[in-house]
Amino acid sequence: MDMIAASLPGQSTAAFPVETLRAQFSALAHAPNTVFFDNAAGAQVPQAVFDAVTSHLLERNVQRGGRYKQSVAVDASVADARETVALFLNASDAAEVSFGMNATSFIRLVSLGIGQMLDGARNEIVVTDLDHDANISTWTALEPLGARIVWWRMRDDRQLYIEDLEPLLSEKTRLVAFTAASHALGTLVDVPAVTAAAHAVGAESFVDCVHYGPHGLIDVQAWDCDYLVCSGYKTFSPHMGFLWGKKDKLRTLPTFREDFIPNEPPFKIEVGTFVYENVAGMAAAIRYLEALGQSVTSSAGASRRDHLVAAFDAIRAYEAELSRQCLQVLHRHGATIYGVSDPARASERVPTILFNLPGRAPGAIAQQLADHDIAVRDGHMFAPRLMNRLGLEMSSGALRISLLHYNTPAEIERFDAVLGALARSSS
Ligand SMILES: Cc1ncc(COP(=O)(O)O)c(C=O)c1O
Repeated sequence: MDMIAASLPGQSTAAFPVETLRAQFSALAHAPNTVFFDNAAGAQVPQAVFDAVTSHLLERNVQRGGRYKQSVAVDASVADARETVALFLNASDAAEVSFGMNATSFIRLVSLGIGQMLDGARNEIVVTDLDHDANISTWTALEPLGARIVWWRMRDDRQLYIEDLEPLLSEKTRLVAFTAASHALGTLVDVPAVTAAAHAVGAESFVDCVHYGPHGLIDVQAWDCDYLVCSGYKTFSPHMGFLWGKKDKLRTLPTFREDFIPNEPPFKIEVGTFVYENVAGMAAAIRYLEALGQSVTSSAGASRRDHLVAAFDAIRAYEAELSRQCLQVLHRHGATIYGVSDPARASERVPTILFNLPGRAPGAIAQQLADHDIAVRDGHMFAPRLMNRLGLEMSSGALRISLLHYNTPAEIERFDAVLGALARSSS
């Protein structure tokens, strides 16, 4: 049984119940020899998520808004999911949560609305060279509408510094678009600090939480951000996306809607039909996280939100230990690691690590790992600007391992053995 003593300063020292949790992910038992280290491209889902999706399809696979019991049940399920996602985000009002297909289409929806509101006085949009292109191109596409794009660039240590953002901000800044955690480098960004800097000049902040979702606690009220987007498939749910925005911001945002639809969130955002079964799956994924939190905390009478807080405290500590072990393995085999690479700084990142073996083609290494049933990703990670900054070719890019709390030290040992043999071989 793999148990890691989660012993980072200030965090729980309780052993993390990884095997109990793994037992809830049927896909892990279905492919017992596969090491899933490509979770940034999609997490496996716990049994409760399967059950929620299946129940929807069996019991209420109908349209909302009817008077019969199955349709009434869909309305109830969507309302429950909205409340549950609001809890996950610590939103003060569930109407601030909208459901849809994925993160990119939501970023586009918000950016198009902002594009329509641009005036000459405040037309600067700040983007970063750390982000997934979904949170860059959607904003640069506003240039024909009069936006001026301002780049907040990483320093040579591949980190974003608030001190570099501040001089870029002025009364001309409309919005700062950035990620809470890099899907490629695993870097964490200080969301409240970025938001405070944006607000200090009267600008808004847009947080891409797609990669951060399974790794850390989101708190839109403490963060005080203006918009935030997430994608279910990285956070133990099937494919779907959700957008959160401050209610007054969503109210003023121009969106497309049929003209009889109320000009109010969430209706003005959620035009058309979204995938109800996957939204039910997202709610079940959050309940799985609540149960995880409940299992690692002893405080009686804790609220659902308290359980989420406990879950992410435990996940952060356990994942930091996974990061530390992976970084040690990569160092041992002479890998070039892009991003925070010091094992002692593992708590400053999530266990998503971009690397290369010097002189070796990432695609060939990924294939050889795949031949040993170790699933990793190679390529550009949908981040052309980042590849450019790292001096990497779009056609080959780098290797990425991305772990979640259901991964284990034993899996890292297997990765270690196979990567070590590959690193020592001549081709
Ligand atoms: C950080 C980040 N932002 C945005 C996206 C795009 O998300 P979606 O596929 O839901 O549009 C991804 C996808 O991998 C991502 O990792």
